[in-house]
Amino acid sequence: MIILVDFGGQTAHLISRRVRELGVECIIANPDEALEKIDSGLRRNDRRIDGIIFSGGPASVYEKDAPTIDKKIFELGIPILGICYGQQLMCHLLGGKVRPGNKKEFGPATLSISKSSKLLAGVPVTSTVWMSHGDEVVRLPQGFIHNAKTQTIPHAAISNESKKIYGIQFHPEAVHTEYGTQILENFLKICGLTPKKSETDREFVENIVKDIKDSVGDQKALCALSGGVDSSVAALLVHKAIGKNLTSVYIDSGLMRVGETDALKLVFQKHYQMNVDIVDAQDDFLRVLKGVVDPEQKRKIVGKVFIDVFEKEAIKSGARFLVQGTIYPDVIESAGTKHSQKIKSHHNVGGLPAKMNLVLIEPLRNFYKDEVRKIGSILGLPDSITQRQPFPGPGLAVRIIGEVTEDKLEILRKADRILQEETQKAKLNLWQVFAVFTGIKTTGVRGDNRAYGETIAIRAIEAKDAMSANFAKLPYELLDKISTRIVNEVKEVNRVVYDITNKPPATMEWE
Ligand code: XMP
Repeated sequence: MIILVDFGGQTAHLISRRVRELGVECIIANPDEALEKIDSGLRRNDRRIDGIIFSGGPASVYEKDAPTIDKKIFELGIPILGICYGQQLMCHLLGGKVRPGNKKEFGPATLSISKSSKLLAGVPVTSTVWMSHGDEVVRLPQGFIHNAKTQTIPHAAISNESKKIYGIQFHPEAVHTEYGTQILENFLKICGLTPKKSETDREFVENIVKDIKDSVGDQKALCALSGGVDSSVAALLVHKAIGKNLTSVYIDSGLMRVGETDALKLVFQKHYQMNVDIVDAQDDFLRVLKGVVDPEQKRKIVGKVFIDVFEKEAIKSGARFLVQGTIYPDVIESAGTKHSQKIKSHHNVGGLPAKMNLVLIEPLRNFYKDEVRKIGSILGLPDSITQRQPFPGPGLAVRIIGEVTEDKLEILRKADRILQEETQKAKLNLWQVFAVFTGIKTTGVRGDNRAYGETIAIRAIEAKDAMSANFAKLPYELLDKISTRIVNEVKEVNRVVYDITNKPPATMEWE
């Protein structure tokens, strides 16, 4: 078993997932409880810790209150892998030196290996790795040697083979790190473990269904259905577990894209034979959003109205449980773990009122989007649903910068429909493509007249999970066609711009 010490990295949980995918159990611990967990594990034969991973984190080792760990951990003789902040802390505690990097670095970098180690076995001399850090290690502790660098980092990989302690500045858990899985596999081997595939996919899904059955019993549940992949898969899992005791409710917030409500009715009645109550709450949402411009406030307000409406429906249905399609990145970005930073409130987590009359069931809380899609396929859902682009809970409210009004929603819907039509025709394999109402008015010329109109931004993203992403390099011809159609067909718009930012540092949605 591996213990992952969580220093608050956005991807700490993803590291544990990668370890689990390699068939090895992984528990997560806060720095102050790690030693005790290792100790009690060593006392019990079946809970022995074979390896320790230090996660990354947002702090700097020199900051006041930066998370740290008792140095005794290095004396246990258990192999240790420090990732990013984990590597910096390790060096700091063992007598090396860390300093703020010349510049912060986010995104891809080229790793060049000068002297390989057991950790880097099988990794070519140069490969792509994913970076997200500010500080860097500049002097190694005694007993450590340098293994690899990148263009900007002198010590991107270091090792002390005799003590089986390793450090890397990049993120092996990110899909963009070409040999990330290989590196984690190597570490598990160093720990004396045998990486392999664990339970079959079907058993895995059956276990989730069984867990739901056990916790809900024969009580009633209400599902917050949005039509997106997450809530569809969550609904289906619960439907499989409790059948007719599940009532699915779809709230039409008026913040959806063109035709979405009708498509949802059709899909669920046809594919799932499930009855969906459609609640028209468009006016409620627009009323409370009036005058609100702050993104966090919008998210919280939308989340609150959703919950209020659901609570009313719950009373009608006699449900005791509320099913939500919360997935792991929603949890970590909304508040996260002890040392992680809040990025934004996903409406199905951060927006929840403190006092709720329903007990939440979130069967997908520990999974990433690609895993959710896989569970959907195992349940027999067609690609048209499992491969659907994610759509944020607060809907178009977070794609309109500034106050949300009916007029802006209408303009954004028209522009977005054109974008969807053209990108579907082009058969692109994208995580997401959407239009954003930027709220910036600019000058244009229409006919011989001056125009002063809206600016629409296009965001097209390639990603495997919601934690990191690249902007898609759409062909210029396609961008040309989309832009020309939008400015010609949506009279209020006279400028279209293309968002060319990766995540990190930008998030996918603009708000
Ligand atoms: P960000 O903007 O956080 O988005 O980089 C990552 C992915 O999550 C989607 N997203 C949400 N999904 N509720 C959701 O269910 C939300 O509040 C929410 N906010 C963002 C976003 O569309 C992207 O795919």
